[in-house]
Amino acid sequence: MKAIIAAGGHGTRLRPITYTLNKHLFPIANKPMIFYALEKIKETGIKEVAININEGDKEIRKVLGEGKKWGLKITYLEQKGGALGVAHVVKNAETWLSGSDLLFYLGDNIVLGSLEELVEKFKREKLDCLLALSKVLDPERFGVPVIKNGKIIKVEEKPKKPKSNYAVTGIYIYSNKVIEAVKNIKKSDRGELEISDAHTYLIEQGAKVGYKKITGWWKDTGKPEDLLEGNGLVLSGILQSKIEGILDKEARIEGKVIIGKGTKIGKGVLIRGPVAIGKNCEIENSSIEPYTAIADNCKIKGTEIHHSIVCEGSCIVDCSKRITDSLIGRNCLISSENSSKPSGHRLIIGDNAQVEL
Ligand code: G1P
Repeated sequence: MKAIIAAGGHGTRLRPITYTLNKHLFPIANKPMIFYALEKIKETGIKEVAININEGDKEIRKVLGEGKKWGLKITYLEQKGGALGVAHVVKNAETWLSGSDLLFYLGDNIVLGSLEELVEKFKREKLDCLLALSKVLDPERFGVPVIKNGKIIKVEEKPKKPKSNYAVTGIYIYSNKVIEAVKNIKKSDRGELEISDAHTYLIEQGAKVGYKKITGWWKDTGKPEDLLEGNGLVLSGILQSKIEGILDKEARIEGKVIIGKGTKIGKGVLIRGPVAIGKNCEIENSSIEPYTAIADNCKIKGTEIHHSIVCEGSCIVDCSKRITDSLIGRNCLISSENSSKPSGHRLIIGDNAQVEL
């Protein structure tokens, strides 16, 4: 079995961050999101992984390289012609797959459980397709299975009136029959080759399509609040504090906290876990509250921050109001309007930013 991770697309709902950073590299608990997919795949024993990237993308290659870090062999497949749909990613990989079974993973999905059980079920039941399902409150955002007598009889893509409260997650396992399916479906109204149509095709052709309900946490991280929820959940899984930085005698630490090498936690700091702080940060007179991840080389002074993600190299100084539920990109500067004259909000903000003052 080989694996493909889909890491293309433009992450439009996460702009402006995704103007300069591929969504799949956005940090969740201080680790690029796509690392979690690679780790899960590695656990299944799969060795060869193809990453589907946008045409001309160099960013993902630069970060993941040949996959040595995970003991995997990574190949990059460029999706030529833009966003042509999830099923097009599989079609594009036909030659690379050369008849292998496939674990297909949409790189913006985060799961807490393991994929091994899914792979085992697929093999044990000699399936052609295994879909991982998750119970959701908003099935209309996803591919939705129509289940009758314990069998999936159809999968509908983003139906207005969903026939079940399950989403087909972005984790699929296929035999090579999927190639025939993705070659035989037509573009949907939104101009894409829908993976749900490939699933329905397989069912109609009599292929063995099974499913497994994921009981643990699963999230498709399309929106900022999804990233924050994912970040919070991964942080909640910290089992033991690991403090490698330097702590001032007067700094207070509560709960599970990770602090990287070279980070200085100065006077007047309260950190309430679960929290992860990267390397070479400076934190002073601040309160770092639960579900916050601060990446390497950040400075936080005179600020309270809660349930937020701060990317590398950002600096937050003397914010009079608590920062909460926020995504802060790389190398940002957020400071108090009172620190220099003339007073007032001075903003240099990219397109599509969202600021609440
Ligand atoms: C895609 C699939 C959809 C699936 C979802 C899971 O949707 O088309 O069937 O439920 O991923 O993440 P998209 O995220 O492209 O809208």
